[in-house]
Amino acid sequence: MTELAIGKDKSGADEMTMISTAQHAAGFPGGGSAANPGRDAIVFDGVDVTYPAPQGGIRTVLSGIDLQIPAGEFTAIVGRSGCGKTTLLNMAAGLVDPAAGSVSVMGKPPREARSHLGFMLARDALLPWRSAVRNVEYGLELRGVGRADRKALGRRWLQAVHLEEAGHLWPWQLSQGMRQRVALARTWALDPDVLLMDEPFAALDVNTRMSVQKEFLELWQREEHRTVIFVTHDLGEAVALADRIVLMGEGKILDDVQVDIPRPRELSTVSADPQYQAIYERLRERLH
Ligand SMILES: Nc1ncnc2c1ncn2[C@@H]1O[C@H](COP(=O)(O)OP(=O)(O)O)[C@@H](O)[C@H]1O
Ligand SMILES: [Mg+2]
Repeated sequence: MTELAIGKDKSGADEMTMISTAQHAAGFPGGGSAANPGRDAIVFDGVDVTYPAPQGGIRTVLSGIDLQIPAGEFTAIVGRSGCGKTTLLNMAAGLVDPAAGSVSVMGKPPREARSHLGFMLARDALLPWRSAVRNVEYGLELRGVGRADRKALGRRWLQAVHLEEAGHLWPWQLSQGMRQRVALARTWALDPDVLLMDEPFAALDVNTRMSVQKEFLELWQREEHRTVIFVTHDLGEAVALADRIVLMGEGKILDDVQVDIPRPRELSTVSADPQYQAIYERLRERLH
């Protein structure tokens, strides 16, 4: 109880979302759009978002967003800073409400679908008073998973990110990359249907970023495919990882590209694929 209260104080919304994943609800009650009934994990239908403008009045940040994300698809969202990427994720998490239109997650209003979600941000938000493995177990503990199962899952997911030897270490004893891998393990341990990732590797230096990206790509490809919405401003990262890239700007969707580079992909060689080059160039031109 104390931990929960401190966790909330320290890291606000992300902790809240962690907690909201507490009960993993089974089932997938239809939902989806007319375009793809029952198969879409997330649907934005004619969505507008407004915020209060600093000078008074309101500012429209997103307008008329129609976007269907099929279950199991890895979608990257790219676009300039301030174009509304985080706003889009926050709507899926039920943290921002649209001014017009509707959002559904696993066929439900976002607030009722939080048990399906895992959230991961640029800063790892590990709890400093818990060892690595106990950080992985944290969400499971909140969910009420018994000690033995929790321990087994903690070990399994640390192993999945190749940190089985580091479970007993404290967050301050881990490198930045290791911390972010612990955060990956913690997110996966909750078995979410949908992963919402907001520039999860942006704070890492370039070498560390590559190794964590590799870990993440391998994990996603190896495990049952989760639906992922992955926000990044790194075009190369988007093309290497995603099945589809949505380019946002001027409050709208400017481009929507399918990435058919075969899987499993190898991070070290994927940029040699002609499709990689073509998509990268197409998006780069539209971005500048
Ligand atoms: N809570 C808020 N209140 C007012 N303006 C906001 C709020 N959140 C975001 N904005 C504004 O909305 C725009 C989109 O923000 P955001 O979704 O964070 O963009 P991105 O993630 O693409 O950088 C920005 O101009 C930002 O300043
Ligand atoms: Mg953002």
